[in-house]
Amino acid sequence: MAKYVGAVDSGTTSSRFIIFDERGRIVGQDQKEHRQIYPKPGWVEHDPMEIWRNTGEVIRGALTKSGLKGSDLKAIGITNQRETTVVWDRCTGKPFHNAIVWQCTRTHDICKGLTEEGGQDRFREATGLPVATYFSGPKIRWILDNVPEAKAAAERGDALFGTIETWIIWWLTGGPKGGAHVTDVTNASRTMLMDLKTLSWDEEIMRILGVPMSGLARIVPSSDEGTWGPTSESGPLGARVPVCGAVGDQQAALVGQTCFAPGQAKNTYGTGCFLLMHTGHEPIQSRHGLITTLAYQFSNRKPSYCLEGSIAIAGALVQWLRDNLRMFDSAPEVEALAAKVEDTGGSYIVPAFSGLYAPYWRPDARGVMVGLTRYINRNHIARAVLEATAYQTKDIVEAMNRDSGVELKSLKADGGMVYNELLMQFQSDILNVPVVRPKVAETTCLGAAYAAGIASGFWSGREELYNNWEEDRTWRPDMDEKVRAEKYAGWKKAVERTYGWVE
Ligand code: G3P
Repeated sequence: MAKYVGAVDSGTTSSRFIIFDERGRIVGQDQKEHRQIYPKPGWVEHDPMEIWRNTGEVIRGALTKSGLKGSDLKAIGITNQRETTVVWDRCTGKPFHNAIVWQCTRTHDICKGLTEEGGQDRFREATGLPVATYFSGPKIRWILDNVPEAKAAAERGDALFGTIETWIIWWLTGGPKGGAHVTDVTNASRTMLMDLKTLSWDEEIMRILGVPMSGLARIVPSSDEGTWGPTSESGPLGARVPVCGAVGDQQAALVGQTCFAPGQAKNTYGTGCFLLMHTGHEPIQSRHGLITTLAYQFSNRKPSYCLEGSIAIAGALVQWLRDNLRMFDSAPEVEALAAKVEDTGGSYIVPAFSGLYAPYWRPDARGVMVGLTRYINRNHIARAVLEATAYQTKDIVEAMNRDSGVELKSLKADGGMVYNELLMQFQSDILNVPVVRPKVAETTCLGAAYAAGIASGFWSGREELYNNWEEDRTWRPDMDEKVRAEKYAGWKKAVERTYGWVE
């Protein structure tokens, strides 16, 4: 009897494979970082073959470390960085270009043209999204426009398009020898090509963007009995394991946090930061700069939707301080520096490295540091870096409260930065609500495992999953209202200084 479920998490900076038991506890894991490629300012790429190789390595690594075999797994699920786009040759599996990463701004001109023609919200009703460089459709267009071999293959019907779950599932299930070309509803909802209500590709938008149907994957539920085929025996699992779950990483965290009821919300502090609130079975259009997206679809049940506040740069700002400015050697050191000072000395950093996403949607924005004086030292800067994530989250919570008409009462937090005590306390202070961390903060992988485990009968249903959720720690607000208001007003002023840096 297979006693475990596995999940691949193909994130922005690394690939992981985690094996869970029926209590949702981790019994084995492995992780490997991949290269971030920056060909020009604002451009970000990944090597898709490196991502696939690393996926194989971490699967083998986690199995070896836990002393398990692929056949010990009842099912596997995939979760992934969303929007990042690959176009490859269906006959050879060779990508025509590096993957264009979600943060990349190279489609600025394509998006500007679309906005000038029909307004930034022209596709919002159908797709829930504003026109922005963030989403996949314009990235596919860019590859077809700039890589002649990709265009020729697309015309022959030999080019496949996909987000990262599509790329990995295709390889896991056989690659050029008949791999499944599928995308789940949550990932498809990030392409700006899928109609939110019908869950099918929108032919009118495809025509406007010049994206041919021949390359697009079949849209499937996020949790399915395994109709996409089992993994191939010659692959890294060395066994035929049903692939039963695929969920974009932020939606996977929502599932991992067991936010299955309308009004429940979570915030994941990773490379970026993404706050998602479950809104039920009907898509609700945002009026305050959030996006409407799929939360999940379990088998062929009615889909669930959510409102999302997407922040492009959170943990990535800490990495920037470490890698580009060499202010410290390891990311957790930022907390020790920040803790040496009481405040930022009046300085702010707004990390609009990819423009500003929600709720501003300003492609013309670029990062700024403001309020500098000779008093400011690297400790203040470290603190301003952490506070930036909390302020960006506050912007999203304000928009979410206005859109839903309900005040958020507490925030479930997860992701790598939730072990940063200073950030979590400041987050609670600036939001004026408690912030709660669960015992298993690897909610992204857990959500993908849940999607696979429910479909395969490993877990009986949501009740069993609710029982797996346990609180680890809660931070409660402890800041004077006047101080909170002053600090936030300074942030809003700093945000305005980011505008107008790109035509
Ligand atoms: O939309 C982008 C998001 O899915 C990336 O998540 O955790 O890889 O930064 P993460």
